[in-house]
Amino acid sequence: MALKVALIGCGLRGRFHSVGIRSFIRLGLVDATYAAVCDVDESRARAFAEAAGVPWVSTDPLAVIDSPDVDAVYICVPTAAHKELVLRAAERGKHIFCEKPLATNLADVEEMTAAVERAGVKAAVGLVLRHSPILTVLKSRMEDPTLGRLMLIVFRDDQFFPIQGHYGSTWRKDRAIAGSGTLLEHSIHDADVLRWLGGEVRSVSGSIRNFAGHEGVEDLALGRIEFESGAQAQLSSIWHSVLGRPSTRRLEVFFEKGVFFIDHDFLGPIHVQTHALNAEVVTEEEVRRRYLDSLGLTDPLFNDALRYSLEDYFFLKDVCAGRRPFPDFRTALEAHRVVDAIYRSAAAGGAEIAL
Ligand SMILES: NC(=O)c1ccc[n+]([C@@H]2O[C@H](COP(=O)([O-])OP(=O)(O)OC[C@H]3O[C@@H](n4cnc5c(N)ncnc54)[C@H](O)[C@@H]3O)[C@@H](O)[C@H]2O)c1
Repeated sequence: MALKVALIGCGLRGRFHSVGIRSFIRLGLVDATYAAVCDVDESRARAFAEAAGVPWVSTDPLAVIDSPDVDAVYICVPTAAHKELVLRAAERGKHIFCEKPLATNLADVEEMTAAVERAGVKAAVGLVLRHSPILTVLKSRMEDPTLGRLMLIVFRDDQFFPIQGHYGSTWRKDRAIAGSGTLLEHSIHDADVLRWLGGEVRSVSGSIRNFAGHEGVEDLALGRIEFESGAQAQLSSIWHSVLGRPSTRRLEVFFEKGVFFIDHDFLGPIHVQTHALNAEVVTEEEVRRRYLDSLGLTDPLFNDALRYSLEDYFFLKDVCAGRRPFPDFRTALEAHRVVDAIYRSAAAGGAEIAL
């Protein structure tokens, strides 16, 4: 029987997922129906429902979660509201896609992870960079043993303070809702990517600064990460006021005998230089082709699907097949541990914190 899906939170992120859910159902790539949309703002929920042809519009997220007409819920509300909805969905045996960061603090993330694991529901987190073609191809290139040992990853992540422009909401300047600033809200992705590329983390140190002056919401964070392998990473996370830079990431990866750098976090060229002084550029088209090949997604439909949120395809497909979706809550919990330790280091004047 088709999986009955509901979306809670009809804002910026909800829109991406709504398009993804509709597209993959329409293309016949997942066996699901789009059963309900919910937002505390009824006019938003109605607009989503009309665009998607969804039969049930609600302003009560708990009623949606409890309904027998819903098997899986997307939780796309501001961060502080995730916990109540995740715990309720787990309790009611509903499958969950929850946006990142999972919660405003580590203790809540631990409680939520324990709840979904205890309930045995299928649960994924919106760490969307795990489905990034360029990072997937970069990761596979990094596995070449002739590169020698990984030495350093330099990771810069910057965007304008996300309370303006296309964001259309201002809750990210409010510590009670967002938890903190650029390190948690945006660079939770980066902490996860660094663990993906560099392996388990041994220790961290860091500092945070607040230029814009929103209380308890840092707009500059620096992290130094030491991996179990002995390799290091430097993370610079910035929220500035340059409206022409919505979100950009640059990664430089240094091995003993090879260097990679990228200026895009989803699609774009990969620059490679090796010991033999060979400079190579893996073009964007090649990145796209290799990514789809690596997933066995050769159907021409998927070329198009890259424009939608491919994470929705994987989540819905895995839940329909009874498989565990990825990235899961435990993966997100590990990224939260890294971020939390950087905050603790910053509070302790930059002390090294073991994980
Ligand atoms: N994965 C990513 O790359 C990514 C990108 C942007 C945002 N996010 C995350 O997605 C979440 C939502 O962010 P956004 O930018 O879409 O926010 P938003 O403000 O644009 O939208 C949130 C919506 O949720 C509704 N809402 C608030 N509380 C609710 C509740 N209890 N029940 C039902 N509806 C409720 C609001 O009315 C609003 O329409 C945040 O946790 C954010 O960090 C993730």
